[in-house]
Amino acid sequence: MQILNFGSLNVDHVYRVEHISRPGETIGSSAYAMYAGGKGANQSVALARAGAAVRHAGRLGPEGAWLREKMAAEGVDVDLVTVGDTPGGHAIIQVDAQGQNSILLFGGANREMSVSDIRRALVVCTKGDVLLLQNEINVTAELIAAGQAAGLTVCLNPAPMTDAVHAFPLDRVGIFVVNEHEGADLSGKTEPDAIAEELAARYPRAQIVLTLGADGVLYRCGPRNLRVKAYRVKAVDTTAAGDTFIGYFLAGMAEDLPVEQAIDLGCRAAALSVTRPGAMDSIPVRADVDAFRP
Ligand code: RIB
Repeated sequence: MQILNFGSLNVDHVYRVEHISRPGETIGSSAYAMYAGGKGANQSVALARAGAAVRHAGRLGPEGAWLREKMAAEGVDVDLVTVGDTPGGHAIIQVDAQGQNSILLFGGANREMSVSDIRRALVVCTKGDVLLLQNEINVTAELIAAGQAAGLTVCLNPAPMTDAVHAFPLDRVGIFVVNEHEGADLSGKTEPDAIAEELAARYPRAQIVLTLGADGVLYRCGPRNLRVKAYRVKAVDTTAAGDTFIGYFLAGMAEDLPVEQAIDLGCRAAALSVTRPGAMDSIPVRADVDAFRP
């Protein structure tokens, strides 16, 4: 089984701040760094660092061409990553003293994908492969439909959540990975068990993975109902923790680990990622995750 991740690639501009700026407020920052990021790119690198075979499809602007080389050096197949003439995606990220973040996105080239890009990507897939998607590119709905029609298992992480997600062909999704905020928006419920219950009722053939930060993960699929605990660590920067979880969880599934173990692998990797600054650079390698003794 191979994983095709059709997703965003961003250059992240990260500012350390005492608190996240409020409307109308101008604040200073104590540090600045530029990192590789983008939910899609982070998830591909998490998959590769976990040891999974992953192919990434997406588009960069000329100023972000270095991201392609960086991902290739990680073992991600980047043949389907193109570099265009228009500016690529970037993110302005504030990280506060508690490690929490606030992200402003510019989609750029991530939002210039076309139907021919979809065709080119799906042609390299085989029935039974996984198609991993987020919500930072412009053709997610079309990819869900085309991927499922091609016999792929579509794994959707609807982040960042927007109203448009409600109109996606969600009944074709095979695995949902959602946080509490995304789950609440999708289900209309607020309490985690009710969110998982509602999504499982609406999408009875799908696996529902609801991530709850420090409260762990809820998993629902048909009659299966699991809760897996998270690991407590001192957070430095929570950026890309969700992306790290998804990459390691899917890598575990691709290894045919029992689902509890695949989720636990994701939780361990995510816990380690928040102890390090940055997005892609904070994702741990598999040896560190295996050696993690909380
Ligand atoms: O999930 C973290 C990512 O979200 C960052 O790397 C940023 O680029 C945004 O896409």
